[in-house]
Amino acid sequence: MANGQLTMPTLVAFLLYAVGLLGPTMELSHHLTTLQAGVAAAARIRDVRSLELERSAPGAAVATRAGDSPAIVFDRVTACYSDSGRPVLRDVYLEIPATGHTAIVGPSGAGKTTLFALMLRFIEPQAGELRLGSTAYRDVDISAVRRRFGYVEQDSPLLPGTLRENLVFANPAASQRAIYDVVARLQLDDLVDGLEHGLDTDVAAATISGGQRQRVALARALLAEPDVLLLDEVTAQIDGISEAAVHEVLRSQAKQRSVVTIAHRLSTVIDADTIVVTERGRIVDRGRHQELIERCSLYRRLVEALRLDTDAESARTGIPERIAP
Ligand SMILES: Nc1ncnc2c1ncn2[C@@H]1O[C@H](COP(=O)(O)OP(=O)(O)OP(=O)(O)O)[C@@H](O)[C@H]1O
Ligand SMILES: [Mg+2]
Repeated sequence: MANGQLTMPTLVAFLLYAVGLLGPTMELSHHLTTLQAGVAAAARIRDVRSLELERSAPGAAVATRAGDSPAIVFDRVTACYSDSGRPVLRDVYLEIPATGHTAIVGPSGAGKTTLFALMLRFIEPQAGELRLGSTAYRDVDISAVRRRFGYVEQDSPLLPGTLRENLVFANPAASQRAIYDVVARLQLDDLVDGLEHGLDTDVAAATISGGQRQRVALARALLAEPDVLLLDEVTAQIDGISEAAVHEVLRSQAKQRSVVTIAHRLSTVIDADTIVVTERGRIVDRGRHQELIERCSLYRRLVEALRLDTDAESARTGIPERIAP
């Protein structure tokens, strides 16, 4: 302008165009980001779609009825996660009765969760076989096997959707009454009452603690009314009061169906009908608490090292666990 090469109107026009371009440019870069996220998501959907489907005995009927005992038999099962891998379980013989509470204990990496993976048929044994009642697993359809189980994982995720959808996921036909009954028994009513839309609140909009998540997962498993309940450390994140409620539920469940727990707390283990002690892929002993305390050194070590004994300690000293120093 100073040299007379640019007029004032041209400068103003240039500036206005520049400002006008700003918005569309920013929008373009924003859309590019969205596009990239979409491309990544599409790739993952493609990956999932190309996963190999589980093969199963087609149309095989389940010869055994629910209630036949034992419910599950591990007959000299050896298992590993990859064909060339080292066996994670070796020569395991285990019978799970149709009713009662079986607790599995053992150091980390002993293969406890792997026992569940075998029962649910997430992996197949390398040697030996599992039986559902008296029928071999390989003669039964995978979905027929899984229908028998309610499974609460070690870390129980909530799925996108409402709390109600999370609860009835495994049994969409569950009645309103059954839902409220389970919610009350697991002391989840405080959670539900505190939510803006109660059971119909979107879980993404609610703050749900780890312990509450575990109880929601447990409620979901109970609503499905399975023959066998598999619980992987469900009391890990639960406080004392809710833990007592969970134990009460487990006790009443064990009267009508088989309850198998993997437990890191003595309070879960102590009144189990059978305690199975595992170490490095083998079952080293089984029995009731008092028997094992007397004869199994690993069990004694587990009780001491994992500080499983807080309850027994408080029972002996008469000082409640939470007050004792
Ligand atoms: N998906 C997997 N792929 C390969 N190896 C695995 C897999 N899951 C577990 N393992 C291995 O199998 C062994 C037993 O694992 P498992 O999860 O059954 O132990 P765990 O007794 O449940 O332990 P924790 O108490 O820590 O949960 C471990 O050595 C582990 O590294
Ligand atoms: Mg585990």
